Amino acid sequence: MSYLMPTYVRQPISFVRGQGSYLYTADGTAYLDALTGIAVCGLGHCHPTISRAMKEQTDTLIHTSNLYGIDWQEKAGEILCQKAGMDKVFFANSGAEANECALKLARLYAHNQGKSRPKVIVMEHAFHGRTLLTVTATANPKARSGFFTLDDDFIRVPFNDISAVEALTDDKDICAVFVEPIQGEGGLHTPSDDYLEKLQNICHDNDWLFMLDEVQTGNGRTGKYFAYQYSNVKPDVLTTAKGLGNGFPVGACMVSGKAKDLFGAGSHGSTFGGTPFGCRAVCAVYDELTDEVMTNAVRESDFIRQSMREHFPQIDVLGRGMMIGFGLPDDVDCTHIVDMARDEFHLILNVTGGNVIRLLPALNISHDDTVILTDRLIGLLKKTLGRVEYWYLP
Ligand SMILES: Cc1ncc(COP(=O)(O)O)c(C=O)c1O
Repeated sequence: MSYLMPTYVRQPISFVRGQGSYLYTADGTAYLDALTGIAVCGLGHCHPTISRAMKEQTDTLIHTSNLYGIDWQEKAGEILCQKAGMDKVFFANSGAEANECALKLARLYAHNQGKSRPKVIVMEHAFHGRTLLTVTATANPKARSGFFTLDDDFIRVPFNDISAVEALTDDKDICAVFVEPIQGEGGLHTPSDDYLEKLQNICHDNDWLFMLDEVQTGNGRTGKYFAYQYSNVKPDVLTTAKGLGNGFPVGACMVSGKAKDLFGAGSHGSTFGGTPFGCRAVCAVYDELTDEVMTNAVRESDFIRQSMREHFPQIDVLGRGMMIGFGLPDDVDCTHIVDMARDEFHLILNVTGGNVIRLLPALNISHDDTVILTDRLIGLLKKTLGRVEYWYLP
């Protein structure tokens, strides 16, 4: 029996070692990891220079608390804000915490505007985390069920639907819009090219904060440091986590413009946020997250996408950069795909939104490993779809 609360349906496998794009079980069997711990180990498992920096830091200084100056936090803050195009950062320990910080900023902003019942616009299919405020902002009813969520504090509209947001501009309680540039849970949804810009314009016109959740899309995942950098926008609040520590849990909430000076001493805090150890990891990650790595991510992602289009012309190829989805037809039974991929093809991936195969490979995957990944994926899909002849070109 296990002492762990049964909050996860776990697969019947565990890994004892990871290196680059591979995970290994205790008997030494290698699995090609196309999920990287759900978009966390973006530079591959146990990246040598990141691990070296972290080892050095464990022997030097791990934690002091935010009661004192923390040089590595200052340095990580400077690097991150410069890459993200933001002014200031608060370091947290997870995506949910970074988002909780963003939502608190929105409420403080509303308070300063004299609003008494602030509401934040969020999207259908959104995923923002599991704290009470962030799970309320999350769309998935299963995640929210039974928790007396704070539903009056949010208004949910369809993703990628500007008119649904425009229709709310008379509501004087609204203080912010909170949105993922590409939604990665509950399917993989990419909005139209001008969506973020139009959203931002509505926010500006109505004095709302324009807040982006880049917990998953940030840190090079889509081929730019942050996915919003594909658009002509600048968020007031920007959150990230996942790839930020390449496996070490660290999140960040960044501000600029209208949100820049909302927090003062005592407004927010965290015992563990921004430790010397965590921030050393952030610095080491950003040392390695070079333009070449992001170019590699786009090139290898294009290779995977193109190969799949050629073999399975009817499948929807979704997402951007190394956030890759393959939308299978509704009538395909996807229940066993993850198990089949793992057990028969030694390939780690997952399925989201019922019928989207999701890949989140390492940004620095080698071309040889991309070819192996693609071959295994083709084999997997032929086996899954092969019985329906027209779904693939043999
Ligand atoms: C877009 C987005 N926001 C927030 C979160 C929550 O992050 P965490 O699990 O680190 O709390 C996730 C996690 O999947 C996410 O994808």
